[in-house]
Amino acid sequence: MDETPTMSRFDQAYASNTAPWVIGEPQPAIVELEHTGAISSPVLDIGCGAGEHTILLARLGYDVLGMDFAPRAIEQARANAAARGVDARFEVGDALRLAGTSTYRTVIDSALFHIFDDADRAAYVRSLHGVCRPGGLVYVLALSDAGRGFGPQVGEDTIRSAFGTGWELESLQTTTYRGVVGEAHAEAFGVAAGTMVDEPAFLARVRRL
Ligand SMILES: C[S@@+](CC[C@H](N)C(=O)[O-])C[C@H]1O[C@@H](n2cnc3c(N)ncnc32)[C@H](O)[C@@H]1O
Repeated sequence: MDETPTMSRFDQAYASNTAPWVIGEPQPAIVELEHTGAISSPVLDIGCGAGEHTILLARLGYDVLGMDFAPRAIEQARANAAARGVDARFEVGDALRLAGTSTYRTVIDSALFHIFDDADRAAYVRSLHGVCRPGGLVYVLALSDAGRGFGPQVGEDTIRSAFGTGWELESLQTTTYRGVVGEAHAEAFGVAAGTMVDEPAFLARVRRL
């Protein structure tokens, strides 16, 4: 596993409009999750990026906070919410240092878990434990190692072993994560830059004990 990317690397991706995960809509897997009634307020959308999932849930009446450590992500998320007339809350904050107040019934992690190296992944899971209520659920949507290297990828074992003591992994399904192919991947993927692709992913449901 590569080292965890720095905040400035993410911030730069937003500043230059080159973030391959910014697709202008929520991930289909998260939309589907909401349709099944799997999400309860209060919700934390951690690593919220441009805010699509926070905006989706706020529009539907959930009590949701979108948090990201990249200030430009939060700027874009606020601008996106305002442009769509949605009153959504966003905050700059670090997923590795969440205030441990057992606040949330649901945490949505869309493409955050898979970016961490081993040490940061362990710190992240500890941090998550502190902000989830007992019985609360964390949904992890992560690019899978069955993919073509669209971004950082994880294997099933990485998810299983990350959520050990204090957690119960209730389900682990295969699904897809949608992204937009940048110049760097266009040739390898055999498509023009700007093409949307659905890459193999896992969706884990983990209960905080
Ligand atoms: C691959 S993007 C996914 C964004 C969004 N969830 C989505 O699916 O479109 C990962 C996001 O996590 C944020 N991030 C990375 N490390 C973080 C940390 N330690 N705390 C909070 N946000 C973080 C990045 O700035 C980036 O916006």
